[in-house]
Amino acid sequence: MINAIRGTKDILPGEVEYWQFLEDKFREVSEKFGYGEIRTPIFEPTEVFSRGIGEETDVVNKEMYTFPDRKGDSITLRPEKTAGIVRAILQHSLANQGAALKYWYFGPFFRYERPQSGRQRQFHQYGAECINSPYPESDVEIIDLSDKITKAAGIYEYKLLLNTLGNASTRKNYRYALVEFFRSKAEELSEDSRRRLETNPLRILDSKDERDIKCSEDAPNILEYLDDESQEHFEKVKEGLDLLQINYEIKPRLVRGLDYYCHTVFEFQSTALGAQDSFGGGGRYDGLFEQLGSKKPYPAVGFAMGVERMLLILQKIDSLPEIKTNPDIYIVVSDHKFSNEAQKIALRLREMHLRTVMDLQRRSMKAQFREANKMNVKYVIILGDEEIAKQSVQIKDMDKGEQTEISLDQLNKYNF
Ligand code: HAM
Repeated sequence: MINAIRGTKDILPGEVEYWQFLEDKFREVSEKFGYGEIRTPIFEPTEVFSRGIGEETDVVNKEMYTFPDRKGDSITLRPEKTAGIVRAILQHSLANQGAALKYWYFGPFFRYERPQSGRQRQFHQYGAECINSPYPESDVEIIDLSDKITKAAGIYEYKLLLNTLGNASTRKNYRYALVEFFRSKAEELSEDSRRRLETNPLRILDSKDERDIKCSEDAPNILEYLDDESQEHFEKVKEGLDLLQINYEIKPRLVRGLDYYCHTVFEFQSTALGAQDSFGGGGRYDGLFEQLGSKKPYPAVGFAMGVERMLLILQKIDSLPEIKTNPDIYIVVSDHKFSNEAQKIALRLREMHLRTVMDLQRRSMKAQFREANKMNVKYVIILGDEEIAKQSVQIKDMDKGEQTEISLDQLNKYNF
């Protein structure tokens, strides 16, 4: 027997309906905010991610599915979507006119991580990006959208963690302070973080290594390094969230796992999840366009939610929606020689928007009734010798237990 690859999952009937429920919400809420859907390829040239996300991040360093194609070009299965969207916007010159671009997306992503509950190698994200506004109102809108998506899904209890990484000059000053602080503790840091000390000290704050977590406890607080511009942006974001009554908690150590962020960063956490308690996050990424080759900078902000993790939360809090998948009508035939007739009737009923099924395995009437009962259909239509002769059908209302005979040319008039 061949099994699915470790860290990937089949989404089978019975579960797929929960996905469809969430996908409907994603589209519905995104459209309410005026966001349009964007679809980009599952794989991209590797440099889209190595240049975009940052060479020192775990995602690029350890988790990418990267391989040469048959010509030897380096290809990567997308570990996230933001860098791919930026690549697409630049390729199609979508941002040149200066209008705000607002996109949402849903789809599979790939990271070579150690699989556990809520962590897979193929997982799914819903996300949204707002491009061409440097102003805090776009940060607020993006956070508002992620908050409303979460609530539309049925998740009301969660923590929204908020921080700022400030502008480039703030980060430069903060980086000096971090390097100075961690240098004195270099011996106690993990090997990775000792290297990061030279290349990208902010990453140390995001390390999952116990040694680094311990060393980071008394690390300098970025909020004490904000210059006026960074401070003002952060204040405006908080003000906007307060006005919309969106609760948040300031977490000065929150830096997120990708290098492209500046100013606002945020993350959604739920206690219903175990170790993988973060089910979404995002932030501002004003430098990413230039990093991917744009001559002009385009300010942007966005986020992504982990769909598997949202479903885990809904399951844990017993809030998965009730799903109706059963058909409305089952057509029972007394003999399979009437299958063609049954198929013609099914066609008419489906044109009337009724979910209609029939037996395809030439089983006995008893077995067909048993299946109809199991499917919990509202009506059974019975077709036997007599009905065929009279060009009629019997309609059994399964709730009331009543049976009526109706001529086929009157079928459209029956009040199903
Ligand atoms: P991220 O924090 O790397 O951000 O991923 C967003 C969410 O995807 C996580 O909070 C988590 O729920 C889910 N996720 C990530 N990895 C896995 C995994 N291995 N298994 C299951 N779920 C996972 C981004 O990807 C950014 N592109 C978000 C963004 C958009 N920032 C700005 N715009």
